[in-house]
Amino acid sequence: MSTAATRPRFTTEDDITAEVLRRFDSTEDPRLKHIMQSLVTHVHAFLKEVQLQEAEWWKGIEFLTRTGNMCDDRRQEFILLSDTLGVSMVTDLISNRKPAGSTESTVFGPFHRAGAPEREFGDSIVGADRNGTVTYMSGKVSDLHGNPIPGAELDVWQAAADGLYDVQDPSLNEINMRGKFRADQDGRYLVKTTRPVAYQIPADGPVGEMLRATNRHAWRPAHVHFVVSAPGYSPVTTHVFDSVDKYLDEDAVFGVKNSLIAHFKEHKTRDAAALKFGADPPFCTCEFDFVLAPAQ
Ligand code: BEZ
Ligand code: FE
Repeated sequence: MSTAATRPRFTTEDDITAEVLRRFDSTEDPRLKHIMQSLVTHVHAFLKEVQLQEAEWWKGIEFLTRTGNMCDDRRQEFILLSDTLGVSMVTDLISNRKPAGSTESTVFGPFHRAGAPEREFGDSIVGADRNGTVTYMSGKVSDLHGNPIPGAELDVWQAAADGLYDVQDPSLNEINMRGKFRADQDGRYLVKTTRPVAYQIPADGPVGEMLRATNRHAWRPAHVHFVVSAPGYSPVTTHVFDSVDKYLDEDAVFGVKNSLIAHFKEHKTRDAAALKFGADPPFCTCEFDFVLAPAQ
C-alpha cells in the first residue's frame, strides 16, 4: 500500500508543467482557462529553453518589482516595458484588424491625458513656447466610402519642440500640446501646432537599463498622436509620422506603419498657404486624412 512518502510525485520539470496545467482544468471561464494554460505552457518552455538560473530569477523579480514601483499617474513603466518588447504592437495588430481603406492604428503610449481642452477649428495646441516650427495639420475625416463625418472628435497630443511631453516637463504644471478638436460640416479638421521632433522614451528607469544592457537606443521618430472617434464608428488610436525622420526604420517601440507616414511641407516664402493660414514663413503644412470603419 502506498503512503504519503512512497506515492509517485513530480520529479521532472515536465511533471511540474503538466501538474500546473491540470490545476487550471476546472477554470469556469473558457477564455481565462485558455489564457492561463497557454501562459504556463510558454513561460515553462522559456525557462527550460534558457535553463534559467536562480540568480537570474531573482534579477527578473527585482526588475519587475522596480518596474511596478515606478508606476504612478504620470509614469507607466509597465506600458513602456510592453512597448519596448513589441508586446503592445503585436496586441495592436491582433486586436485592430480593420477593413482595408480604414486608417491603421498604432501604439497608444503612456503620455495620453484624459481631459484635454476642447479646441476650435484651427486653434493652437502650443501653450508653452519651445521654439518649434509652426505647423498646420489638416485633412478630412471620412467613412470607408469617402463620405465626411462632421463632428468627429480628434484628440491630439504630441511632444513639444524640446522633445518633452507636458507631464515630463518639470517647469510646466499646465496642459501643453494637447487638445480635442471636432471635424467641421465637411469633415475637415485644422490643428495649429509645431513640427514634431524625434525624442527618446524615458530611459531613467528599469526599461532604460534594459535598453542599455542590450545595446538598444530609446529614440522614437517624430510623430503627432491622434485618437479619432465618432458615434457609430470604430475609434482609431494612431500617429502621423514625419516622412523625413531618420528613426522611421528603428522606432524603439515598433509603431511605424507606412500608411501613417506623411509629408511635412516646408514653406519658406509668402506663398498661397501663408495667405490661407495668415502665417509668417518659415512654417510647415501637413495634410493627413482619417478614414473610420463602422463600429463592430
Ligand atoms: C509615445 O509615443 O508617446 C510613446 C509610445 C510608447 C512609449 C513611449 C512613448
Ligand atoms: Fe509620442
